[in-house]
Amino acid sequence: FLSDDEALYMSHTGAVGQTVIYPFTSTCAVRGSTVTLPCTFTPRKSFNDGWREVPLKIVRVRWCKNHAICQDSTPSVYDSNPANIDPRYQYLGDKKTNCTLQIRDVQQRDKTSFRFRMEADHHKGHFTNQTGVNVTVVDSSKMRIISSSDDKKVSRGETVTLLCASVCTFHQLEVTWFKDGHALSDTGPSLHLSPLTAEDSGNYTCALKKSMETLSEPYSLQVEAGGLFTDGVLRLVLGVVFGLLLAVILLVLFTFIIKRCRNRVFEHPDSIYSNMVKSAQTEAAQQQEPGRAAEDVSYASLQFKQKKQEGRRLQAASDDVVYSSVSSRG
Ligand SMILES: *[C@@H]1O[C@H](CO)[C@@H](O)[C@H](O)[C@H]1NC(C)=O
Ligand SMILES: *[C@@H]1O[C@H](CO)[C@@H](O)[C@H](O)[C@H]1NC(C)=O
Ligand SMILES: *[C@@H]1O[C@H](CO)[C@@H](O)[C@H](O)[C@H]1NC(C)=O
Ligand SMILES: *[C@@H]1O[C@H](CO)[C@@H](O)[C@H](O)[C@H]1NC(C)=O
Repeated sequence: FLSDDEALYMSHTGAVGQTVIYPFTSTCAVRGSTVTLPCTFTPRKSFNDGWREVPLKIVRVRWCKNHAICQDSTPSVYDSNPANIDPRYQYLGDKKTNCTLQIRDVQQRDKTSFRFRMEADHHKGHFTNQTGVNVTVVDSSKMRIISSSDDKKVSRGETVTLLCASVCTFHQLEVTWFKDGHALSDTGPSLHLSPLTAEDSGNYTCALKKSMETLSEPYSLQVEAGGLFTDGVLRLVLGVVFGLLLAVILLVLFTFIIKRCRNRVFEHPDSIYSNMVKSAQTEAAQQQEPGRAAEDVSYASLQFKQKKQEGRRLQAASDDVVYSSVSSRG
């Protein structure tokens, strides 16, 4: 609890912990649309009457148009006491922390400032934040359709989201979507088409609900019929090519390893072998790197063998042919 001095000081400055916060102090609405004015509040918990701390309780909440304080007999658009008259103004809040107001079927006369006021069981708990929310009303502006895809021609199986937007930004927006003039069941501002089929092709329009004068220009969407087929074939071809490539790489690797092992065993070169060694390698290199020399020779000999059809002389003939044909494709 606050000391007397603190309480006195704070009641003079008004900083007694009661707040009303409007997250958006200005908002824009198209005539006929629904707009929400978000609002939160913190009531004062108690006050000191000189002897003791008296708890406070909020007993009345209200919203006024174009009035700084919104007190006493000021006409209000919403009043919890007595409960309100005009159904266009819906209080979505409570008497504790939430003071959100929703305006349906926005009219030109809503183009003004709105303020929330809380009233407690003692006037020390009354409070209005004079900042308020300024509402701008745009008269029957045409909606327009924004597509998530830059291209108007899209392929089957793809995803496209159409957004029904206007010069105003909305917190809440109910629209009617039309495809080739027929109303769709969707009412949200975005129309999600996924996965696309040929039947999704057509001219789309949207309008604010019950406000046909806001009807957008048509947006023509063309779903290309061949899309999925082309896509599927491409994927199949890619898959086969990749699979073959992988098999060839594995085969080459396998052949190479086998050859290496065999070359370690063949220490007695036959006549062809020794001729090749002399033409391919110097004596010095052969002495320094016997393993490598043998490897190079066997590769050279298999190229040679393939050309001269003498492959049968080595056991590894079949493997070698694969190896050489791969290496020449390169
Ligand atoms: C009044 O509202 C404005 C806008 O939401 C906010 O920045 C300010 O803190 C509020 N003041 C009080 C005392 O609640
Ligand atoms: C609301 O509008 C009034 C006058 O039209 C202006 O003085 C005030 O600054 C505006 N408030 C906000 C938060 O834009
Ligand atoms: C206030 O209530 C409205 C409607 O129930 C809700 O959408 C909003 O999120 C609430 N705000 C907070 C801050 O709880
Ligand atoms: C969409 O509109 C264009 C011209 O605006 C027209 O040529 C086309 O036939 C229309 N498509 C459908 C499916 O109605």
